[in-house]
Amino acid sequence: MSGLFDKRFLIFSGKGGAGKSTAAAAAAVAAARRGKHVLIVEIGDDERIPSIFGNARKNGYAGGPVSSARAGVPPIWSMCLTAREALREFAVRSVKFELFYEAIFENRVMRLFTTAAPGLDELTIMGKLEFMSRDAVEPAKHARFDLMIFDAPATGHGLAFFKVPLTAMSLARMGPLHSKAERMWHLVSDPARTAFNIVTLPEEMSVNESIDLYTASQALGLPAGKLIVDAVHPDVFGSDEAMLRDAQARVSMPADLDGRIARAALDAAVSSVARSQADREMLAKLATAIPLERIVLPFISAPRIGPADLETLADSLDGF
Ligand SMILES: Nc1ncnc2c1ncn2[C@@H]1O[C@H](COP(=O)(O)OP(=O)(O)O)[C@@H](O)[C@H]1O
Ligand SMILES: [Mg+2]
Repeated sequence: MSGLFDKRFLIFSGKGGAGKSTAAAAAAVAAARRGKHVLIVEIGDDERIPSIFGNARKNGYAGGPVSSARAGVPPIWSMCLTAREALREFAVRSVKFELFYEAIFENRVMRLFTTAAPGLDELTIMGKLEFMSRDAVEPAKHARFDLMIFDAPATGHGLAFFKVPLTAMSLARMGPLHSKAERMWHLVSDPARTAFNIVTLPEEMSVNESIDLYTASQALGLPAGKLIVDAVHPDVFGSDEAMLRDAQARVSMPADLDGRIARAALDAAVSSVARSQADREMLAKLATAIPLERIVLPFISAPRIGPADLETLADSLDGF
């Protein structure tokens, strides 16, 4: 079984809100602690990664650091891709003549065509990822990064995204587009370079989607990575659970403040037992349905996840 950080291109996939961005950020922290130069890539118009690291400034398409260097820990970088910017860069790079780009791609009619073409956005972004993987992470003297972590779009869109190179290959049977799409497909399907990690919450809907995602990703031929279960409530009370429930059944609501505080604490303890048990049921269901090595990230009780929480979450990734 290979380690979480043995590959250079780590995909983090899952349902929206499952903790992909948080897990991707925590994985970056854990990898940086091992001395790796990490680039997190997210896509879309709503850039989230810098804020998880506590940065108000966004990094955009050009990218930038989200953490500063410490002894033996390189700074982590992030970037946020949009299809529009990737298409622009591709066109400019291909024709080396920006005016041509303006004429063709900024043209309203052309724009209409490109937004209407299904899969073109995905193909363009995938092209950028493949280009970066050659330039930025392949073992080479000039490589800037050891590891590229891809915070993938949510399930549904998620696998459609990875299918697009195959569709393009079947549409363009030869020529430059075919070989480009083929390179993209080789990247995402290459078990030597890539791992497809699934992030899920310990909740029924998220678990069911993750099982479907696992099956579909296997059918598509994506190299399996880890199953990351995020926001799992710890089992704080263990065998004291029966005693807690018993106390709750016996104690009626006290009139005095101290008594009511004690009662509230008892109720909170019982509900934490219930949450932890429900989470454990979901872990058991996942274990029977998804035969991947599992990594459990703890539930963080904070209004929003920040840099200190990422260090805590990274601790849970350390053994992998
Ligand atoms: N381990 C955790 N404990 C508590 N809250 C979490 C945890 N992981 C993620 N969250 C919160 O859950 C929400 C969704 O997480 P996010 O990483 O943005 O999911 P996704 O990228 O899959 O949409 C965010 O508000 C995030 O702060
Ligand atoms: Mg996200």
